[in-house]
Parts: sequence; structure tokens; C-alpha cells
Amino acid sequence: MERRFAAAGRLRGTMRPPPDKSISHRAALIAAMGGAAVIENYLNAADTRATLAAVRGLGGQVDARPARSAEGHPLGQVVAIDGPGLRGASAAEIDVGNAGTLLRLLPGWLAGQGEGSWTLDGDASIRQRPVDRVAVPLRRMGAQVECRDDRLPPLRIQGAPLTGIDYKLPVASAQVKSCLLLAGLLAEGETTLVEPSPTRDHTERMLRAAGAELRSEDGRVSVKPAERLAAERIGIPGDLSSAAFPIVAALLVPESEIEIEGVGLNPTRAGLLAILERMGAGLEVEEAAAVGGEPQGTIRARASKLSGTRVDGDEVALAIDELPLVALAACFAEGETVIAEAGELRHKESDRIAAVCEELAALGGEVEPTDDGMVIQGTGGLRGGGLDAHGDHRMAMLGAVAGVASREGVDVRGFEAVEVSYPGFEADLAALLE
Ligand code: S3P
Repeated sequence: MERRFAAAGRLRGTMRPPPDKSISHRAALIAAMGGAAVIENYLNAADTRATLAAVRGLGGQVDARPARSAEGHPLGQVVAIDGPGLRGASAAEIDVGNAGTLLRLLPGWLAGQGEGSWTLDGDASIRQRPVDRVAVPLRRMGAQVECRDDRLPPLRIQGAPLTGIDYKLPVASAQVKSCLLLAGLLAEGETTLVEPSPTRDHTERMLRAAGAELRSEDGRVSVKPAERLAAERIGIPGDLSSAAFPIVAALLVPESEIEIEGVGLNPTRAGLLAILERMGAGLEVEEAAAVGGEPQGTIRARASKLSGTRVDGDEVALAIDELPLVALAACFAEGETVIAEAGELRHKESDRIAAVCEELAALGGEVEPTDDGMVIQGTGGLRGGGLDAHGDHRMAMLGAVAGVASREGVDVRGFEAVEVSYPGFEADLAALLE
């Protein structure tokens, strides 16, 4: 599906982003591990529907209904889950679709089941996503896990007794950390993980709220085995990774000023805001009462003159899914921007180093790939043209933002990829355009 995004006058107004995708996946799995729970504001998108289908496949009952707020805002779904509990998942073949988070988290739960066998497979993109990062440490815990070429899906898991480990993660990955924390609940003895740099901590927050014994300090997270979890009620804030698209659009289109309400502000997810502020972005952040143990609030963004910056080290993991947007903003900035130590971008829904560089260059940007990032020369704007989404939802939305901010507009090929995380994106963006 091709969609055209014409150069825009300006963006004005208030919006609510869709529910957080990362947190929705965790909520469905942890609810199912807990036995029974109600989730409020669950994301209704392809990725998170795959997680509900997986819970059903494992023997859970799932009832998902749309909801609206008292003011009439469309909210995510209210999902009631009656799951198989910590140790009762039935054998199944699971189709994870395009969902990397489901692919990496679920093996942690399944590997420690007393008995049963499971296969996890997905679409063409998922078949290129590395799973040795979870298979290797799970095997060290005693798990029986096999994957194609010892690296890629499909993944086959046979239930086995697990033992806790001390493990230093070779890459900063919240998915790997979360997988091993779930496995740790089912293991004998404590599991301790050491992260090379901090990553999103949604799993830790949710497991603690569900009664798990979990400690985290100085880059180490430890979890003790659990007899049961009790999640009961889980609230989900709006997704900052989705809100990031209209935020950057408002920064780049002259005279824009928008407000995003109900957006998650967890500091382990909010690296983009610090990067943009350093580039000169006019952002205001107002925190409100937490939702589901997660900080959230309102972000205001107005059109700003930006300058180049450097992103590396700990900041990379805190903004990993937003780095394509940093590259786009950098095209509109003055001076050079360097993104480094971000080799993980090559293992996302597309190779986001190759895809971002190729596509922004086709729109008139001066963007060069490096092994672990990219270098962007700011030229104050982009001409526009055509962009291919590479089957990647974030590339499709990047193309749309590039289009409204460009001089000549952008045709986005493969726009349907937005269904993965933000089905209402086109309508939400259109509502902000004046
Ligand atoms: C996610 C963690 C990140 C991120 C992905 C979602 C999660 O991946 O890129 O979109 O929900 O835990 P890694 O943890 O592999 O970096």
C-alpha cells in the first residue's frame, strides 16, 4: 500500500498516543502467568494481538473489548485474561507474526515448564531476528532450546528443570533481560543479570507489582523463584515510541505546536527527549500520576531550530527505537550528527542503519552508514520523493514525518507496516495538520 504525505502548513492540537507496545506484551504474558487479570488500555495492533493469540494457544482465555475514556477519547482495549498460571502452559505452535518482543520473552516462560514442547515462528522479518541471545543463556539454565542455524527462528523449546544463573548480557537488550527474568521465576535458586548499559525496566516494575521478589541496583537485577504471581489489574500508559513521530513532526514543521497527553515517561525509555533537547528542541514535559507503576504525563513540542549532536554510550539503549527519528531531525539541523555504538539497529524489524541511510539519502539527505551507526550532515531540510518502508512500521512512520516536513512531500511504499504498532497513525497525524 502506498500513501502520499504532502508538505504540511503546520501541526496544531492535542492528541493521545496509542497504548505502549512494550508494556502491552509484558502485561498479557505476566497476566497469563499470574492466572487471572484485567488489563486496561491494551494496544490493539498486530504485534500485541499476536501476544493475545499466543496466550490463547497456551491454554488461556482472553476477552478483549474496546474502551473510551470518560471524555470520550478512544482508549486501548480492556483485556480480561484467565491464563494457565506460572507452570500450566499447554504445548503449542506459536505464530509471533512480526513481534520481536514476543519472540524473545515467551521462551523464558516456556523453557521452565515441567513438560511440553513449543515452536515459535513468525513472518519473513522475524526469521532474520537473532534468537541465540536468548537460547544461549537459557541453555545455561538447563533449558532445551533449538533454533535454525543455531541463531534464527523457528525456535523449538522442550520444558525442562531450570537452575538460576549469574549472567552478564553481551548486548544491552531489555528483551533478553526480560526473558531471563521470566525464566528465573521458574528456576531453582536466584538468577542475577548484569547489563552492559541500562535498558527499559517495564518487566521489573510489573513483576514486582505482581509479587515477585526482584532486586535491582547498579546495573544488576536479581529475581528469586516464585510459587505464583498475582497481577490482577494492570494499567498501560501511552507509547512514547509512537508519540515520538508527531513530536518530531512538530519540531520540524515551522509554526507547529502540539500537545501529547497520557504518554509514558519512564526514564529508561525517554532518551529521545534528552537528545532532542540537546539539539535545541522546544519541549515541555509535565509529569502526572503514574499509571500501572509507570511515570506518564504530557509532552508539548513546538517548531524549533535544531543543531547537530552525538549519540552513543548509554543513551543508545534509552532511545533505541527512536534513533531513526534522530537521524531525520538531524537532516533538518545545522551541523553534523553522529550516531555510534548502535549496531543493534541492524537487528530490528529491518536493518535500520541500512534502511534509514538509504531512504533518507533518496529524499535528499546527506546520511552515511557506519558499522555501528550513521553520520548525518544537516542541510536544513529534505527535498522529498519516495521511501520504502522495508516492511518496518517505524520506517513507514518515518517516511510520513519526512513527507510533512519536506519541501515536495513523500510517497511511502509499504505503509501498511504501521499496523504492527500504530494502526491509527495516519488519522492522528492528519488531525494535527492545519
Ligand atoms: C523492546 C526492547 C528493545 C526495542 C524493542 C522492544 C522490549 O529491543 O528495540 O522494540 O519491548 O523489550 P532490545 O531489548 O532487543 O534492544
